[in-house]
Amino acid sequence: METEIIKVDENNLEEGIEKGSKLIREGSLVSFPTETVYGLGADGLNAEAVKKIYKAKGRPEDNPLILHISEIDELEKLVRDIPNIAYILMENFWPGPLTLIFKRSELVPDIITAGLDTVAIRMPDNIIARKLIKSSKTPIAAPSANTSGRPSPTSANHVYEDLKGKIPLILNGGRTGVGLESTVLDLTSETPKILRPGGITEGDLLKYIKKVEIDKGLEDLNVIPKSPGQKYKHYAPKAEMFLYKGEERQVVKRILKDAKEKSSKGLKVGIIATDETVKDYEGELVYSLGSRKNLETIAYNLFNTLRDLDNEDVDIILSESVMGEDMARAIGNRMLKAAGGNIIEV
Ligand code: TXA
Ligand code: MG
Repeated sequence: METEIIKVDENNLEEGIEKGSKLIREGSLVSFPTETVYGLGADGLNAEAVKKIYKAKGRPEDNPLILHISEIDELEKLVRDIPNIAYILMENFWPGPLTLIFKRSELVPDIITAGLDTVAIRMPDNIIARKLIKSSKTPIAAPSANTSGRPSPTSANHVYEDLKGKIPLILNGGRTGVGLESTVLDLTSETPKILRPGGITEGDLLKYIKKVEIDKGLEDLNVIPKSPGQKYKHYAPKAEMFLYKGEERQVVKRILKDAKEKSSKGLKVGIIATDETVKDYEGELVYSLGSRKNLETIAYNLFNTLRDLDNEDVDIILSESVMGEDMARAIGNRMLKAAGGNIIEV
């Protein structure tokens, strides 16, 4: 199959949206930009079409998908009950990088929910995504448009790297703004619970609701995460990655020492640093994610940098870590998964 890429922007929406929505209605796959990462879309009410998503990505079938809608009205028929708190959250965060988990309705195919009694819904804050959904006249099921396990795509080129020949169309809307996937928030438990940290942080949520829990499985490797997608090694570059935790100066020293040792064994080493430290690694192959004072930039660059290092064909990646609350939690979660749990405490 040929994979066509159509450039789409606010002044030139029609061709891409028309072709894209036609393909969706016919039961084909279309990759499109959202404000977080690129999605791989199919008609969310057509089980045969949704099957193609799992096949193209090589995604495990026990990992459910998010349904994307373009108007709040589209929600009612997909879910069984909408708690009051959902209206508060939708009013303040939709469209935007917040996925809400509800009890599912009968209309939602089993393949979307991977057999669960709940369904994930989100309204993306991207004009191309919303127009595509609207013209397709159906909710669009869309995981991130990467091969399963690889870093999520933040540009049309990343999608092409992973899925060329497997899907008919990519709508190219440029680099995605947030760079990490949406926050997944479960509204079916007593207290709303973050199952995947992302663009909307616990701090953001607490401005509008009283309590938010964070799924224990996200940070304790001995607890099974509630969101199926969080159990896999994920977002991973091809190279083996190690994450260094500790005081900044000590981490730099240790990374330099380990880089020398690995290089002397003939391994090609890539280093992930921050603006605060990048100069200290002079002479090494080093990428900065941005300044620690601006975590949005670090989020924006993370997946892109992992893919850049893959394209450098490094054997091993030694990375500084970002850990903490809010945006730092979202970044740390992706780093931890990318490193497959390889942590070096300095
Ligand atoms: O930002 C995003 O959310 C992107 C863009 C394309 O919208 N999409 C995305 O989809 O990241 P995906 O499939 O890569 O990740 C969806 C996550 C997975 O971790 C999945 O396990 C979880 O949401 N999920 C989906 N339905 C669920 C459910 N009913 N209960 C718990 N977790 C669910
Ligand atoms: Mg994904």
